[in-house]
Amino acid sequence: MSVIPRPDRRPAVPYFSSGPCAKRPGWSPDALRDAALGRSHRAKLGKSKLQQAIDDTREVLGVPADYRIGIVPASDTGAVEMAMWSLLGARGVDMLAWESFGSGWVTDAVRQLRLADARVLEAPYGEIVDFATVDFDRDVVFTWNGTTSGVRVPNGDMIPADRQGLTICDATSATFAQDLPWDKLDVVTYSWQKVLGGEAAHGMLILSPRAVERLLTYKPAWPLPKIFRLTSGGKLSEGIFKGETINTPSMLCVEDYLDALGWAKRIGGLPALKARADGNLAAIERFVEANPWLGFLAADKSIRSNTSVCLVFTDPAVAGTTDDARQAFAKNVAARLEKEGVALDIGAYRDAPAGLRIWCGATVETADVEALMPWLGWAYEVEKGSAAARAA
Ligand SMILES: Cc1ncc(COP(=O)(O)O)c(C=O)c1O
Repeated sequence: MSVIPRPDRRPAVPYFSSGPCAKRPGWSPDALRDAALGRSHRAKLGKSKLQQAIDDTREVLGVPADYRIGIVPASDTGAVEMAMWSLLGARGVDMLAWESFGSGWVTDAVRQLRLADARVLEAPYGEIVDFATVDFDRDVVFTWNGTTSGVRVPNGDMIPADRQGLTICDATSATFAQDLPWDKLDVVTYSWQKVLGGEAAHGMLILSPRAVERLLTYKPAWPLPKIFRLTSGGKLSEGIFKGETINTPSMLCVEDYLDALGWAKRIGGLPALKARADGNLAAIERFVEANPWLGFLAADKSIRSNTSVCLVFTDPAVAGTTDDARQAFAKNVAARLEKEGVALDIGAYRDAPAGLRIWCGATVETADVEALMPWLGWAYEVEKGSAAARAA
């Protein structure tokens, strides 16, 4: 059997996981030395750091001045469910899903909240729902970037400015890498461990004035646990949007988020972050173009993610096999790359079609993506040889 030579260059940083994602270039634990550890988060120091995190978020993302930004418990899931439990039920809702996480929000609406008027609009992995079929006079819940399928909503053009319903958008793997049309979005959520490579645990909840109005004029029929409560005595809990968190945050995570935002500002803010992610996707696109055995799960370039890039083996020798065989092939390729120490955690998500998922968010260096590409070819050839030998 011929030996397939290993590429001579390796990525300097092999972290391509889709969350937690690679830390920013140059990060070390020293970045956390000013953390308000051992202090109350309600003391002046802790509160000022939490307020700074909110202010820097607004600056980097360009969040309008009249939108509220809150730091909430339980990561992105906490933020999405807090919004759903607090806002839904006032009118009918269109639930859009094109991958695993969006499907999770459908389950919340249909099976947990048991909303009487929930319409479910779904698209298969690699596609998104046709927004022309969505009724924006109803509430609409959707995921901007499908982390497990590598798709994204291209823009907000199809969302009417004069909609009657609220748009509730899980943007966790889009925020800081893609443009979010704030005037078209009433609720935006994300967590720190994605595009900025922060630490997990806290969610970000951004509310438009219309979302706040709903909070003040609508009381859901179901009970709300304390960690979901955004109002008190019929008034908005304004403190939440000034760094007075509902419960205790990790000041170590807060410091790390401040460090990540500081890095974002130093390199040129949102345009620079987006350009880094775009450059990483472009590096993969060049490789796929030159290697017909590989393809994107999102075949349509206009909806292809620049953060969670999902690849499938299009070689008929792989694609033409059973689902189990395809899964095994992709898993083995990912395992070979991991064993070589050139790419960690790049297997497709457990519910997604067989393939690879390479995180291309802003903290990943294009030189590392470029260095990884020949290794994909190497692992594919080696695995193909092994599979053929096993079958013989
Ligand atoms: C689109 C999407 N929504 C929700 C989640 C869950 O996020 P968290 O673990 O921050 O709650 C993820 C995690 O990867 C995600 O990609």
